[in-house]
This record gives sequence, C-alpha cells and structure tokens, in this order.
Amino acid sequence: MTLRDEILALKRERGAVILAHNYQVSEVQAIADFTGDSLELARKATDLQADLVVFCGVYFMAETAAILNPDKTVLIPDPSAGCPMADMITGEQLRAFKAKHPGAKVLCYVNSTAEVKAESDCCVTSANALKVARTFPPDQEIIFVPDQHLGSYTAEQLGRRFQLWPGYCPTHARLNAGMIEAARAAHPGAPVMVHPECPKPLRDAADQVLSTGGMCRWVKEQTGRAFIVGTETGILYRLQQENPDKLFYPLDERAVCPNMKKISLERVLWSLRDLQTEVRVPEAVAVRAKRAIDAMLAIH
Ligand code: 13P
Ligand code: SF4
Repeated sequence: MTLRDEILALKRERGAVILAHNYQVSEVQAIADFTGDSLELARKATDLQADLVVFCGVYFMAETAAILNPDKTVLIPDPSAGCPMADMITGEQLRAFKAKHPGAKVLCYVNSTAEVKAESDCCVTSANALKVARTFPPDQEIIFVPDQHLGSYTAEQLGRRFQLWPGYCPTHARLNAGMIEAARAAHPGAPVMVHPECPKPLRDAADQVLSTGGMCRWVKEQTGRAFIVGTETGILYRLQQENPDKLFYPLDERAVCPNMKKISLERVLWSLRDLQTEVRVPEAVAVRAKRAIDAMLAIH
C-alpha cells in the first residue's frame, strides 16, 4: 500500500477530516478533504461533521480550528510548524502597545497567537482585512498587528492611518520589485499577482494584490493564459490543478515557507496513527480569542 493509500484508509477508519492550506506541498494538498486560504479554512472549521481534524498548515491555523471547535480533537502533524510573523508579537507586547493608544480598537491578522487574538477586538485575514476595517467608524483609532504590510495596505486602501506593529513575513520579505520587472520581461503580457504580505514597492508594481484564495478566484475569471505569482510557491499546485490550460510562473521559486513545508505525508500518517500532536489552547485564552475570531466570521 502506498503512503497515500495508508493515510486515506486510516482517515476513513478514524472518521477524520484533513484540512490543508494552499501553501502545503502538493502531495498533502492531494489527500486533503478541503484546501483553502486562512479565511476559507477558518469558515470550514465552523462547519465540520468529523470529531477528529488533521490540520495541515502552520500552528496558528490549527489553533484557530481548535478554538472554534473546543469539543473536537484537532491535530497538527508537526507542532514545530510555526509562523515567524505570528511570533513577532506577544500578548504582553500587545497590552503595552494598547496602553499607549487608549481607546484604539485592535485588528489582529489571523497570523497571530491565541494570546494575541485574546487581546484583540477583531481578527482579519488577507482576504477580508478591508471589509472588516470598513466596519469601524472613520474616526476610530485602529491598532493593526502583527503584519505591517497587510496593515499598511489596508490603511492605504481606506485612506487612513493605522498604528502598525513592525511584524512581517520572512518569505514574502525576500521578494522585491526588481523581480517583477524581470518576470514581466520574461513573460510579456502576463499579469502579476502578489500577496498583501508583500512590501509596498511590490504591491505598487503588481497588477493585483490578493490573498491566496483571491488569486485562485481571480485567475478563473481571466481569459489570459499566463500569470506571474508573487507568493509562496505551494499555491502553484492548486492554481495548476484548477486551471490546467493556463500557465503559472513563480515570481521567485525560492519563495518557500519552510514551516509550511514541514508537513509531509509521513507526518500526516504518524499524526493519524498516534493521534499526535493535539492542539490545546487554555480555556481562558480560547474563550477570549474566539470572540475576536467570531467577530470576523460574522462579517460577510
Ligand atoms: P492566505 O490567508 O492568503 O492564505 O495567507 C496565509 C499566509 O500565511 C500567507 O503567508
Ligand atoms: Fe507565516 Fe509567512 Fe509562512 Fe505565511 S508564508 S505561514 S506568514 S512565515
């Protein structure tokens, strides 16, 4: 039996559901019941029939699923798969930042720890940051953590200024505007999509700024054949699967998130077999963090 068949058999036997982020390696995406961006995965996590969830992504994503499902078992195949950006601010640091801006509301990118979510008014993802921010009155002071780039992009779109935390994604930070110039020269006419975690010079030089789910939707609506993709390369698998007649070129093939890549088929099998590693969030933190996630999910 192949590793894939072993996983699928054990998944059936255990009645488990496998969720995967768009940046997962292709073989993991191929065995998942559902693949999506952070918002799609959070929404999916509110509507699960199975009692056992294997979450193939980074820790904060599995943690979000666990917070939304306190009565289910959520496993992450490698608990060391963290998100460095999420770890760039602690709950204590956020409390100190809030103390400097009394009266400000806190928007927190879902790429954050449960402790930071617990200190926030509302979560956002890269797919809905603008929509969520618009629900706050224009004169409301906003603190945005931890991603300075998604924060500045959202503020820019609204013509506002946010109090930003200087966090960033190391994978997207390695991309630069010179790469866009080179990619345009190599693939004339192909539009450039970048993720809002990219720094401003890249966003300004791109044709579209989209979440990973947004990229999947936008590409389907286009009649053009070739696209330049400025984000983590795992997304190329899904784009290619869903659009077999189109061509996708990574802006930089070294744009790889090492943590997303820690989840392998071997680890998924181990996770299902040994029921490891369960993601647990202390109840007091989970209850407060859930308020910020629910506030986001209530905005359609
Ligand atoms: P998406 O929500 O767009 O999938 O992004 C998640 C992420 O971690 C990007 O680096
Ligand atoms: Fe975190 Fe960046 Fe990896 Fe996304 S790509 S999980 S933001 S380090």
